Amino acid sequence: KKGKIMTKTYSMPKDFYWGGASAANQYEGGYNEGGKGLNAIDVLTNGSATEPRKVTWKTNDGKTGVTPMTWGKEFKLPDGAKPALLDNYYYPSHEGTDFYHHYKEDIKYMAEMGFNMFRLSLNWSRILPNGDDQEPNEEGLAFYDKVFDECAKYGIEPLVTLSHYETPLSLINRFGGWKDRKMIDIFVHYADIVMNHYKGKVKYWLTFNEINAMDMAPYMGGGLIDGSKQNRAQGAHNQFVASSKVVKLAHEIDKNNQVGQMLAYSAYYPYTSDPADQLLVMKAKQEMLFYSDVQTGGRYPEYRLKEYERDGIKLDDRPEDYELIKEYPADFLSFSCYTSNVLTTHEADAKANGNMSAGGVKNPYLDYNAWGWATDPDVLRIALNDLWDRYHKPLFIVENGLGWGDELTEDHKVHDDYRINYLRAQIKSMEEAVNEDGIPLMGYTMWSAIDLVSNGTGEMKKRYGFVYVDRDDMGNGSLKRYPKDSFNWYKKVIASHGKDLD
Ligand code: BG6
Repeated sequence: KKGKIMTKTYSMPKDFYWGGASAANQYEGGYNEGGKGLNAIDVLTNGSATEPRKVTWKTNDGKTGVTPMTWGKEFKLPDGAKPALLDNYYYPSHEGTDFYHHYKEDIKYMAEMGFNMFRLSLNWSRILPNGDDQEPNEEGLAFYDKVFDECAKYGIEPLVTLSHYETPLSLINRFGGWKDRKMIDIFVHYADIVMNHYKGKVKYWLTFNEINAMDMAPYMGGGLIDGSKQNRAQGAHNQFVASSKVVKLAHEIDKNNQVGQMLAYSAYYPYTSDPADQLLVMKAKQEMLFYSDVQTGGRYPEYRLKEYERDGIKLDDRPEDYELIKEYPADFLSFSCYTSNVLTTHEADAKANGNMSAGGVKNPYLDYNAWGWATDPDVLRIALNDLWDRYHKPLFIVENGLGWGDELTEDHKVHDDYRINYLRAQIKSMEEAVNEDGIPLMGYTMWSAIDLVSNGTGEMKKRYGFVYVDRDDMGNGSLKRYPKDSFNWYKKVIASHGKDLD
Protein backbone atom coordinates (compact mmCIF):
# COMPACT_ATOMS: atom_id res chain seq x y z
CA LYS A 1 0.00 0.00 0.00
CA LYS A 2 1.07 3.51 -0.75
CA GLY A 3 2.06 5.83 2.08
CA LYS A 4 2.25 9.54 1.53
CA ILE A 5 5.76 10.80 0.89
CA MET A 6 6.38 13.93 2.93
CA THR A 7 9.44 15.68 1.66
CA LYS A 8 8.64 19.32 1.00
CA THR A 9 6.98 21.48 3.64
CA TYR A 10 4.49 24.19 2.82
CA SER A 11 2.55 26.76 4.75
CA MET A 12 -0.73 28.52 4.20
CA PRO A 13 -1.38 32.28 3.95
CA LYS A 14 -1.77 34.16 7.25
CA ASP A 15 -5.44 34.97 6.59
CA PHE A 16 -6.33 31.32 5.87
CA TYR A 17 -9.23 30.05 7.98
CA TRP A 18 -8.43 27.09 10.22
CA GLY A 19 -11.12 25.51 12.34
CA GLY A 20 -13.68 22.80 12.86
CA ALA A 21 -17.21 22.06 11.70
CA SER A 22 -20.44 20.85 13.27
CA ALA A 23 -24.19 20.57 12.72
CA ALA A 24 -26.97 21.45 15.14
CA ASN A 25 -28.77 18.12 14.72
CA GLN A 26 -25.67 16.16 15.73
CA TYR A 27 -24.20 18.47 18.32
CA GLU A 28 -26.55 20.98 19.85
CA GLY A 29 -29.17 18.97 21.76
CA GLY A 30 -31.72 20.95 23.81
CA TYR A 31 -34.29 19.61 21.35
CA ASN A 32 -37.30 20.74 23.36
CA GLU A 33 -35.77 23.67 25.22
CA GLY A 34 -36.10 27.39 24.63
CA GLY A 35 -39.23 27.07 22.48
CA LYS A 36 -37.61 24.92 19.77
CA GLY A 37 -39.89 22.99 17.41
CA LEU A 38 -39.06 19.50 16.09
CA ASN A 39 -37.04 18.93 12.92
CA ALA A 40 -36.53 16.02 10.52
CA ILE A 41 -33.68 14.48 12.50
CA ASP A 42 -35.48 14.69 15.84
CA VAL A 43 -37.61 11.73 14.68
CA LEU A 44 -34.67 9.67 13.37
CA THR A 45 -33.53 6.79 15.57
CA ASN A 46 -30.00 5.57 16.21
CA GLY A 47 -28.45 2.89 13.99
CA SER A 48 -25.03 1.32 13.42
CA ALA A 49 -22.58 0.36 10.67
CA THR A 50 -24.89 -2.52 9.75
CA GLU A 51 -28.30 -1.31 10.94
CA PRO A 52 -29.83 1.77 9.25
CA ARG A 53 -31.31 4.68 11.20
CA LYS A 54 -35.10 4.76 11.01
CA VAL A 55 -37.76 7.43 10.65
CA THR A 56 -40.56 6.85 13.16
CA TRP A 57 -44.07 7.78 12.02
CA LYS A 58 -47.76 7.90 12.78
CA THR A 59 -50.86 8.03 10.58
CA ASN A 60 -53.93 10.16 11.30
CA ASP A 61 -55.86 7.06 12.37
CA GLY A 62 -53.21 6.21 14.96
CA LYS A 63 -51.15 3.55 13.18
CA THR A 64 -47.41 3.73 14.00
CA GLY A 65 -44.29 2.31 12.38
CA VAL A 66 -40.68 2.84 11.32
CA THR A 67 -39.03 3.12 7.88
CA PRO A 68 -35.28 2.61 7.40
CA MET A 69 -33.30 5.52 5.99
CA THR A 70 -30.94 3.75 3.62
CA TRP A 71 -28.32 5.65 1.63
CA GLY A 72 -28.62 5.86 -2.10
CA LYS A 73 -31.87 3.85 -2.18
CA GLU A 74 -35.48 4.82 -2.78
CA PHE A 75 -37.05 6.18 0.38
CA LYS A 76 -40.78 6.42 0.96
CA LEU A 77 -43.00 6.40 4.02
CA PRO A 78 -46.27 4.48 3.67
CA ASP A 79 -49.19 6.57 2.39
CA GLY A 80 -50.66 8.75 5.13
CA ALA A 81 -47.64 8.28 7.45
CA LYS A 82 -46.16 11.42 9.00
CA PRO A 83 -42.83 11.46 10.83
CA ALA A 84 -43.51 11.66 14.56
CA LEU A 85 -41.95 10.87 17.93
CA LEU A 86 -42.83 7.44 19.30
CA ASP A 87 -42.28 5.96 22.74
CA ASN A 88 -39.52 3.40 23.25
CA TYR A 89 -37.13 4.68 20.59
CA TYR A 90 -33.83 6.44 21.14
CA TYR A 91 -33.30 9.66 19.19
CA PRO A 92 -29.65 10.78 19.33
CA SER A 93 -30.31 14.35 18.12
CA HIS A 94 -32.30 15.16 21.24
CA GLU A 95 -29.20 15.76 23.28
CA GLY A 96 -26.45 15.50 20.67
CA THR A 97 -23.35 16.22 22.72
CA ASP A 98 -25.13 19.12 24.37
CA PHE A 99 -23.47 22.15 22.82
CA TYR A 100 -26.63 23.95 24.00
CA HIS A 101 -25.33 23.85 27.57
CA HIS A 102 -21.60 23.52 26.86
CA TYR A 103 -21.03 26.19 24.23
CA LYS A 104 -18.79 28.34 26.43
CA GLU A 105 -16.53 25.46 27.35
CA ASP A 106 -16.43 24.15 23.78
CA ILE A 107 -15.65 27.49 22.16
CA LYS A 108 -12.88 27.93 24.74
CA TYR A 109 -11.37 24.62 23.58
CA MET A 110 -11.60 25.82 19.98
CA ALA A 111 -9.85 29.06 20.92
CA GLU A 112 -7.15 27.10 22.70
CA MET A 113 -6.43 25.21 19.49
CA GLY A 114 -6.09 28.55 17.71
CA PHE A 115 -9.27 28.35 15.58
CA ASN A 116 -10.13 31.47 13.64
CA MET A 117 -13.28 29.83 12.26
CA PHE A 118 -16.06 27.63 13.63
CA ARG A 119 -18.66 26.11 11.33
CA LEU A 120 -22.07 25.47 12.88
CA SER A 121 -25.63 25.23 11.65
CA LEU A 122 -28.63 27.11 12.96
CA ASN A 123 -31.43 24.87 14.06
CA TRP A 124 -34.12 26.35 11.81
CA SER A 125 -36.95 25.17 14.12
CA ARG A 126 -35.24 26.79 17.13
CA ILE A 127 -35.77 30.14 15.41
CA LEU A 128 -39.04 29.37 13.62
CA PRO A 129 -40.63 26.43 15.50
CA ASN A 130 -42.96 25.60 12.60
CA GLY A 131 -40.47 26.67 9.96
CA ASP A 132 -42.64 29.45 8.56
CA ASP A 133 -43.89 31.39 11.62
CA GLN A 134 -44.26 35.08 10.88
CA GLU A 135 -42.36 36.14 14.00
CA PRO A 136 -39.18 34.45 15.24
CA ASN A 137 -38.77 32.77 18.60
CA GLU A 138 -36.67 35.37 20.44
CA GLU A 139 -35.20 32.79 22.81
CA GLY A 140 -33.88 30.84 19.83
CA LEU A 141 -32.29 33.91 18.28
CA ALA A 142 -30.78 34.80 21.65
CA PHE A 143 -29.05 31.43 21.93
CA TYR A 144 -27.02 31.97 18.77
CA ASP A 145 -26.33 35.58 19.81
CA LYS A 146 -24.62 34.18 22.87
CA VAL A 147 -22.70 31.68 20.72
CA PHE A 148 -21.52 34.32 18.24
CA ASP A 149 -20.56 36.71 21.06
CA GLU A 150 -18.53 33.95 22.65
CA CYS A 151 -16.77 33.30 19.30
CA ALA A 152 -16.07 37.03 18.88
CA LYS A 153 -14.41 37.09 22.28
CA TYR A 154 -11.69 34.85 20.87
CA GLY A 155 -11.59 36.25 17.33
CA ILE A 156 -13.33 33.20 15.90
CA GLU A 157 -15.33 33.89 12.73
CA PRO A 158 -18.53 31.83 12.45
CA LEU A 159 -19.39 30.01 9.23
CA VAL A 160 -23.12 29.39 9.39
CA THR A 161 -25.07 26.68 7.57
CA LEU A 162 -28.73 27.66 7.28
CA SER A 163 -29.93 24.10 6.79
CA HIS A 164 -27.88 21.06 7.75
CA TYR A 165 -30.62 18.42 7.34
CA GLU A 166 -32.71 20.26 9.94
CA THR A 167 -35.92 20.83 7.93
CA PRO A 168 -38.62 21.74 10.47
CA LEU A 169 -40.97 18.80 10.97
CA SER A 170 -44.05 20.94 10.59
CA LEU A 171 -42.99 21.83 7.01
CA ILE A 172 -42.51 18.15 6.22
CA ASN A 173 -45.92 17.27 7.58
CA ARG A 174 -47.75 20.13 5.88
CA PHE A 175 -45.92 20.32 2.53
CA GLY A 176 -44.00 17.06 2.15
CA GLY A 177 -40.70 18.95 2.43
CA TRP A 178 -38.76 20.55 -0.42
CA LYS A 179 -40.86 19.06 -3.22
CA ASP A 180 -43.28 21.97 -2.71
CA ARG A 181 -42.41 25.33 -4.28
CA LYS A 182 -43.77 27.07 -1.18
CA MET A 183 -40.52 26.06 0.49
CA ILE A 184 -38.63 28.64 -1.59
CA ASP A 185 -40.24 31.68 0.01
CA ILE A 186 -40.40 30.02 3.39
CA PHE A 187 -36.63 29.55 3.29
CA VAL A 188 -36.05 33.11 2.09
CA HIS A 189 -38.20 34.39 4.97
CA TYR A 190 -36.05 32.41 7.43
CA ALA A 191 -32.82 33.68 5.83
CA ASP A 192 -34.14 37.24 5.92
CA ILE A 193 -34.76 37.00 9.66
CA VAL A 194 -31.39 35.54 10.59
CA MET A 195 -29.30 37.59 8.17
CA ASN A 196 -30.82 40.80 9.50
CA HIS A 197 -30.63 39.71 13.09
CA TYR A 198 -26.99 38.55 12.97
CA LYS A 199 -25.80 41.34 10.67
CA GLY A 200 -22.30 42.34 11.76
CA LYS A 201 -21.82 39.05 13.64
CA VAL A 202 -21.92 36.61 10.73
CA LYS A 203 -20.72 37.20 7.19
CA TYR A 204 -20.04 33.68 5.86
CA TRP A 205 -23.13 31.60 5.11
CA LEU A 206 -23.86 28.24 3.51
CA THR A 207 -27.38 27.50 2.28
CA PHE A 208 -27.84 23.70 2.22
CA ASN A 209 -25.40 21.23 3.67
CA GLU A 210 -24.35 18.71 1.01
CA ILE A 211 -27.07 19.79 -1.39
CA ASN A 212 -26.54 16.57 -3.37
CA ALA A 213 -27.86 14.67 -0.35
CA MET A 214 -31.19 15.31 -2.08
CA ASP A 215 -30.32 12.28 -4.23
CA MET A 216 -28.31 10.24 -1.71
CA ALA A 217 -30.61 10.67 1.31
CA PRO A 218 -33.73 12.64 0.27
CA TYR A 219 -35.28 12.60 3.74
CA MET A 220 -32.22 14.34 5.15
CA GLY A 221 -31.43 16.54 2.19
CA GLY A 222 -34.95 17.60 1.30
CA GLY A 223 -37.23 16.53 4.13
CA LEU A 224 -38.87 14.28 1.49
CA ILE A 225 -41.10 11.51 2.79
CA ASP A 226 -41.54 10.30 -0.75
CA GLY A 227 -38.09 10.34 -2.34
CA SER A 228 -39.25 9.54 -5.88
CA LYS A 229 -37.05 10.81 -8.71
CA GLN A 230 -39.71 13.39 -9.59
CA ASN A 231 -39.74 14.74 -6.03
CA ARG A 232 -35.95 14.75 -5.79
CA ALA A 233 -35.64 16.70 -9.03
CA GLN A 234 -38.26 19.21 -7.89
CA GLY A 235 -36.71 19.42 -4.42
CA ALA A 236 -33.30 20.20 -5.94
CA HIS A 237 -34.83 22.79 -8.26
CA ASN A 238 -36.60 24.51 -5.38
CA GLN A 239 -33.36 24.58 -3.37
CA PHE A 240 -31.44 26.07 -6.33
CA VAL A 241 -33.99 28.87 -6.71
CA ALA A 242 -34.05 29.44 -2.94
CA SER A 243 -30.26 29.56 -2.88
CA SER A 244 -30.13 32.23 -5.61
CA LYS A 245 -32.77 34.30 -3.86
CA VAL A 246 -30.78 34.07 -0.64
CA VAL A 247 -27.56 35.12 -2.40
CA LYS A 248 -29.37 38.20 -3.73
CA LEU A 249 -30.92 38.96 -0.36
CA ALA A 250 -27.66 38.46 1.54
CA HIS A 251 -25.86 40.99 -0.66
CA GLU A 252 -28.68 43.50 -0.16
CA ILE A 253 -28.65 43.10 3.62
CA ASP A 254 -24.89 43.46 3.99
CA LYS A 255 -22.34 43.85 1.22
CA ASN A 256 -19.87 41.91 3.36
CA ASN A 257 -22.03 38.80 3.24
CA GLN A 258 -20.76 35.85 1.24
CA VAL A 259 -22.96 32.84 0.57
CA GLY A 260 -21.43 29.52 -0.37
CA GLN A 261 -22.72 26.33 -1.90
CA MET A 262 -21.97 23.15 0.05
CA LEU A 263 -21.38 19.95 -1.93
CA ALA A 264 -20.57 16.42 -0.78
CA TYR A 265 -17.55 15.62 -2.93
CA SER A 266 -16.00 12.23 -3.53
CA ALA A 267 -13.25 11.41 -6.00
CA TYR A 268 -14.18 8.51 -8.30
CA TYR A 269 -11.61 6.16 -9.78
CA PRO A 270 -12.12 3.47 -12.44
CA TYR A 271 -11.15 -0.03 -11.23
CA THR A 272 -9.79 -1.05 -14.64
CA SER A 273 -8.59 0.71 -17.78
CA ASP A 274 -11.72 -0.50 -19.61
CA PRO A 275 -13.34 2.64 -21.08
CA ALA A 276 -16.66 1.32 -19.79
CA ASP A 277 -15.32 1.85 -16.26
CA GLN A 278 -14.27 5.36 -17.19
CA LEU A 279 -17.80 6.06 -18.46
CA LEU A 280 -19.21 4.82 -15.18
CA VAL A 281 -16.92 7.24 -13.35
CA MET A 282 -18.04 10.06 -15.63
CA LYS A 283 -21.69 9.30 -14.87
CA ALA A 284 -21.12 9.18 -11.13
CA LYS A 285 -19.31 12.50 -11.30
CA GLN A 286 -22.13 14.06 -13.28
CA GLU A 287 -24.63 12.93 -10.68
CA MET A 288 -22.61 14.72 -8.03
CA LEU A 289 -21.51 17.78 -10.02
CA PHE A 290 -24.98 18.47 -11.42
CA TYR A 291 -25.58 20.25 -8.12
CA SER A 292 -22.56 22.53 -8.42
CA ASP A 293 -23.07 23.01 -12.18
CA VAL A 294 -26.38 24.68 -11.28
CA GLN A 295 -25.77 26.30 -7.91
CA THR A 296 -22.23 27.54 -8.56
CA GLY A 297 -22.00 27.34 -12.35
CA GLY A 298 -25.38 29.06 -12.82
CA ARG A 299 -27.01 26.75 -15.39
CA TYR A 300 -28.65 23.37 -15.81
CA PRO A 301 -26.24 21.01 -17.59
CA GLU A 302 -27.45 19.25 -20.75
CA TYR A 303 -26.76 15.75 -19.41
CA ARG A 304 -29.28 16.30 -16.63
CA LEU A 305 -31.93 17.87 -18.85
CA LYS A 306 -31.67 14.89 -21.20
CA GLU A 307 -32.00 12.53 -18.29
CA TYR A 308 -35.18 14.31 -17.10
CA GLU A 309 -36.57 14.10 -20.62
CA ARG A 310 -35.81 10.36 -20.79
CA ASP A 311 -37.30 9.67 -17.38
CA GLY A 312 -40.40 11.80 -17.93
CA ILE A 313 -39.47 14.20 -15.11
CA LYS A 314 -41.36 17.48 -15.37
CA LEU A 315 -40.28 20.43 -13.25
CA ASP A 316 -42.75 22.89 -11.84
CA ASP A 317 -40.61 25.85 -12.88
CA ARG A 318 -40.92 29.47 -14.05
CA PRO A 319 -38.78 31.23 -16.68
CA GLU A 320 -37.50 33.62 -13.98
CA ASP A 321 -36.08 30.66 -11.99
CA TYR A 322 -33.39 30.24 -14.62
CA GLU A 323 -32.60 33.95 -14.65
CA LEU A 324 -32.15 33.91 -10.88
CA ILE A 325 -29.96 30.80 -11.06
CA LYS A 326 -27.78 32.47 -13.67
CA GLU A 327 -27.60 35.86 -12.04
CA TYR A 328 -27.07 34.83 -8.41
CA PRO A 329 -24.82 31.76 -8.24
CA ALA A 330 -23.04 30.95 -4.99
CA ASP A 331 -20.18 33.31 -4.10
CA PHE A 332 -17.90 30.41 -3.28
CA LEU A 333 -18.00 26.64 -3.40
CA SER A 334 -17.52 24.76 -0.17
CA PHE A 335 -17.45 21.02 0.09
CA SER A 336 -17.06 18.02 2.34
CA CYS A 337 -14.54 15.42 1.29
CA TYR A 338 -13.57 12.39 3.31
CA THR A 339 -12.79 9.64 0.89
CA SER A 340 -12.73 8.35 -2.67
CA ASN A 341 -14.65 5.59 -4.43
CA VAL A 342 -13.77 2.98 -7.01
CA LEU A 343 -16.26 1.95 -9.68
CA THR A 344 -16.27 -0.88 -12.19
CA THR A 345 -18.41 -2.75 -14.66
CA HIS A 346 -16.35 -5.88 -13.91
CA GLU A 347 -16.26 -8.42 -11.13
CA ALA A 348 -14.03 -7.14 -8.33
CA ASP A 349 -12.51 -8.86 -5.33
CA ALA A 350 -14.26 -6.92 -2.62
CA LYS A 351 -17.15 -4.54 -2.36
CA ALA A 352 -16.87 -1.33 -0.36
CA ASN A 353 -19.69 -1.06 2.12
CA GLY A 354 -19.67 2.44 3.59
CA ASN A 355 -22.65 4.77 3.15
CA MET A 356 -20.36 7.09 1.22
CA SER A 357 -19.25 4.35 -1.14
CA ALA A 358 -22.51 2.58 -1.93
CA GLY A 359 -22.09 0.47 -5.06
CA GLY A 360 -18.31 0.81 -5.15
CA VAL A 361 -15.50 -1.71 -4.80
CA LYS A 362 -12.54 -1.74 -2.44
CA ASN A 363 -9.43 0.14 -3.45
CA PRO A 364 -6.48 -2.24 -2.94
CA TYR A 365 -4.11 0.70 -2.44
CA LEU A 366 -5.97 2.25 0.50
CA ASP A 367 -6.88 1.44 4.08
CA TYR A 368 -10.44 1.53 5.36
CA ASN A 369 -12.01 2.42 8.69
CA ALA A 370 -14.58 0.21 10.39
CA TRP A 371 -17.39 2.02 8.56
CA GLY A 372 -15.99 1.28 5.11
CA TRP A 373 -14.54 4.73 4.36
CA ALA A 374 -11.13 4.72 2.62
CA THR A 375 -8.28 6.94 3.75
CA ASP A 376 -7.03 8.56 0.55
CA PRO A 377 -3.92 10.73 0.99
CA ASP A 378 -4.36 12.58 -2.32
CA VAL A 379 -8.10 13.12 -2.43
CA LEU A 380 -8.10 16.78 -1.41
CA ARG A 381 -5.62 17.79 -4.10
CA ILE A 382 -7.72 15.93 -6.67
CA ALA A 383 -10.96 17.51 -5.39
CA LEU A 384 -9.56 21.03 -5.32
CA ASN A 385 -8.13 20.84 -8.84
CA ASP A 386 -11.28 19.25 -10.19
CA LEU A 387 -13.61 21.90 -8.73
CA TRP A 388 -11.36 24.85 -9.54
CA ASP A 389 -10.95 23.77 -13.16
CA ARG A 390 -14.70 23.47 -13.58
CA TYR A 391 -15.93 26.65 -11.86
CA HIS A 392 -13.09 29.08 -11.13
CA LYS A 393 -14.75 30.11 -7.90
CA PRO A 394 -13.01 30.32 -4.50
CA LEU A 395 -13.13 26.99 -2.69
CA PHE A 396 -13.56 26.10 0.95
CA ILE A 397 -13.03 22.69 2.58
CA VAL A 398 -15.74 22.70 5.24
CA GLU A 399 -15.56 19.01 6.21
CA ASN A 400 -12.81 16.41 6.22
CA GLY A 401 -11.93 14.07 9.05
CA LEU A 402 -11.70 10.53 10.33
CA GLY A 403 -14.46 8.64 12.15
CA TRP A 404 -12.92 6.16 14.58
CA GLY A 405 -13.86 4.17 17.70
CA ASP A 406 -11.64 6.19 20.06
CA GLU A 407 -10.95 4.77 23.50
CA LEU A 408 -10.67 6.93 26.61
CA THR A 409 -7.86 5.66 28.85
CA GLU A 410 -8.18 5.47 32.63
CA ASP A 411 -6.23 8.70 32.96
CA HIS A 412 -8.65 10.39 30.51
CA LYS A 413 -6.46 10.51 27.44
CA VAL A 414 -7.19 9.51 23.86
CA HIS A 415 -4.15 8.43 21.86
CA ASP A 416 -5.50 9.01 18.37
CA ASP A 417 -2.33 8.70 16.27
CA TYR A 418 -4.48 7.25 13.46
CA ARG A 419 -6.38 10.56 13.29
CA ILE A 420 -3.16 12.59 13.33
CA ASN A 421 -1.78 10.43 10.50
CA TYR A 422 -4.97 10.84 8.49
CA LEU A 423 -5.09 14.60 8.98
CA ARG A 424 -1.40 15.05 8.27
CA ALA A 425 -1.81 13.48 4.83
CA GLN A 426 -5.04 15.39 4.15
CA ILE A 427 -3.59 18.76 5.08
CA LYS A 428 -0.47 18.02 3.09
CA SER A 429 -2.62 17.22 0.06
CA MET A 430 -4.55 20.49 0.49
CA GLU A 431 -1.26 22.40 0.82
CA GLU A 432 0.02 20.84 -2.38
CA ALA A 433 -3.08 22.02 -4.24
CA VAL A 434 -2.57 25.55 -2.98
CA ASN A 435 1.22 25.78 -3.24
CA GLU A 436 1.94 23.55 -6.23
CA ASP A 437 -1.21 24.08 -8.29
CA GLY A 438 -2.20 27.62 -7.24
CA ILE A 439 -5.78 26.83 -6.19
CA PRO A 440 -7.52 29.67 -4.28
CA LEU A 441 -8.70 28.15 -1.01
CA MET A 442 -10.43 30.12 1.74
CA GLY A 443 -10.09 27.71 4.63
CA TYR A 444 -10.26 24.28 6.19
CA THR A 445 -12.75 23.33 8.90
CA MET A 446 -12.14 19.78 10.03
CA TRP A 447 -15.10 17.59 11.00
CA SER A 448 -15.55 17.98 13.92
CA ALA A 449 -14.04 20.15 16.66
CA ILE A 450 -15.78 18.31 19.51
CA ASP A 451 -17.17 14.73 19.33
CA LEU A 452 -20.76 14.57 18.13
CA VAL A 453 -23.34 12.07 16.91
CA SER A 454 -22.61 10.42 13.55
CA ASN A 455 -24.98 11.52 10.87
CA GLY A 456 -24.90 8.27 8.90
CA THR A 457 -25.35 5.86 11.76
CA GLY A 458 -26.58 7.94 14.70
CA GLU A 459 -23.82 6.41 16.81
CA MET A 460 -21.50 8.13 19.27
CA LYS A 461 -18.75 5.60 18.78
CA LYS A 462 -17.94 6.87 15.29
CA ARG A 463 -16.01 9.81 16.68
CA TYR A 464 -14.40 12.66 14.76
CA GLY A 465 -13.46 15.36 17.28
CA PHE A 466 -10.26 16.77 18.73
CA VAL A 467 -12.10 16.68 22.05
CA TYR A 468 -13.61 13.46 23.39
CA VAL A 469 -17.09 13.64 24.90
CA ASP A 470 -18.08 11.05 27.50
CA ARG A 471 -21.27 9.71 26.00
CA ASP A 472 -22.22 6.34 24.51
CA ASP A 473 -24.46 5.10 21.73
CA MET A 474 -27.52 4.98 23.98
CA GLY A 475 -26.99 8.41 25.51
CA ASN A 476 -25.29 7.36 28.76
CA GLY A 477 -22.30 9.31 30.09
CA SER A 478 -21.32 12.48 31.90
CA LEU A 479 -20.89 14.63 28.75
CA LYS A 480 -17.50 15.64 30.18
CA ARG A 481 -14.95 16.81 27.63
CA TYR A 482 -11.35 15.52 27.30
CA PRO A 483 -8.86 16.83 24.69
CA LYS A 484 -7.35 14.03 22.58
CA ASP A 485 -3.71 13.85 21.42
CA SER A 486 -4.84 15.31 18.07
CA PHE A 487 -5.93 18.45 19.95
CA ASN A 488 -2.32 19.44 20.66
CA TRP A 489 -1.20 18.38 17.21
CA TYR A 490 -3.78 20.59 15.46
CA LYS A 491 -2.87 23.48 17.75
CA LYS A 492 0.72 23.22 16.49
CA VAL A 493 -0.45 22.98 12.88
CA ILE A 494 -2.50 26.17 13.20
CA ALA A 495 0.20 28.08 15.09
CA SER A 496 2.68 27.31 12.30
CA HIS A 497 0.14 28.19 9.54
CA GLY A 498 0.19 24.61 8.40
CA LYS A 499 3.96 24.22 8.24
CA ASP A 500 4.55 21.96 11.22
CA LEU A 501 2.69 18.72 10.50
CA ASP A 502 4.97 16.45 12.60
C1 BG6 B 1 -21.20 14.63 6.08
C2 BG6 B 1 -22.22 15.42 6.83
O1 BG6 B 1 -21.90 13.74 5.27
O2 BG6 B 1 -20.34 13.80 6.74
C3 BG6 B 1 -22.05 15.42 8.33
O3 BG6 B 1 -22.34 16.74 6.36
C4 BG6 B 1 -21.54 14.07 8.77
O4 BG6 B 1 -23.28 15.77 8.89
C5 BG6 B 1 -20.20 13.80 8.15
O5 BG6 B 1 -21.47 13.91 10.15
C6 BG6 B 1 -19.58 12.50 8.57
O6 BG6 B 1 -20.49 11.46 8.33
P1 BG6 B 1 -20.88 10.41 9.45
O7 BG6 B 1 -21.97 9.60 8.87
O8 BG6 B 1 -19.65 9.62 9.70
O9 BG6 B 1 -21.29 11.22 10.63
